[in-house]
Amino acid sequence: MADNILQATDIGKSFYIPERISILKKISLEVNQGDTIAITGRSGQGKSTLLQILGTLEPACQGSLSIAGQIINHFNKSAIRRKHLAFIFQSFHLLEDYTTLENVLMPAKISRQSISKGSPAHKQALELLEEVCLADRANFHSKLLSGGEKQRVAIARALSNDPSIIFADEPSGNLDQETSIAIHSLLMNFVQKKNKALIVVTHNAELAAMCKIQYDLHDGQLNLVRHNIANI
Ligand SMILES: Nc1ncnc2c1ncn2[C@@H]1O[C@H](COP(=O)(O)OP(=O)(O)O)[C@@H](O)[C@H]1O
Ligand SMILES: [Mg+2]
Repeated sequence: MADNILQATDIGKSFYIPERISILKKISLEVNQGDTIAITGRSGQGKSTLLQILGTLEPACQGSLSIAGQIINHFNKSAIRRKHLAFIFQSFHLLEDYTTLENVLMPAKISRQSISKGSPAHKQALELLEEVCLADRANFHSKLLSGGEKQRVAIARALSNDPSIIFADEPSGNLDQETSIAIHSLLMNFVQKKNKALIVVTHNAELAAMCKIQYDLHDGQLNLVRHNIANI
């Protein structure tokens, strides 16, 4: 049996805009190490909101969330996020005035590790850039990179804290089809090779099909579309 890494139970979320709108209704989800989960659904159904809640970036109104065996609360969420979680966004969210290498080193810097030349974090960042085929761009300002290159940096950065779960929100939403295909295989190869769990929100049918499990978010509920038993 694979280890459980995330357990969400009866998650509810409402917004007041200005009257109360219930976006997520009693959503439960179990994520085990090695799972790849796609969440699809029409725009405005609450996919990004759900991802933010599961990633501890936004509080739920109801329900509970536990990650790596710990129930998330206001006090422990930042430490658990830094240790176990990583994020990839549609708009890359790189620090554009920093170099490619500095971006990959940012999580280590934030958690106060040494990032000087020769440090373990520095060596690992260079290895990750190598793996995403951007070693020759290490000292490039990230604003000079193409969209696909930026997303490759974001993938390298996401893996730099050796997370248990990677959350990706429309990771190829801003990329052309050819670049998207390259990013999808890079992401999926990484996730499988390093035995990470992945939760990806996507409109891209091909990316969804690459995941072991697919849910459709509709009317505030997650409906199972597909669960590839062969991959369990
Ligand atoms: N902070 C917020 N305040 C009020 N409404 C919000 C907020 N965030 C999202 N919403 C609303 O919640 C709904 C779901 O949004 P979102 O999670 O972004 O959907 P999706 O990612 O599926 O397109 C939308 O109607 C959106 O306008
Ligand atoms: Mg969204």
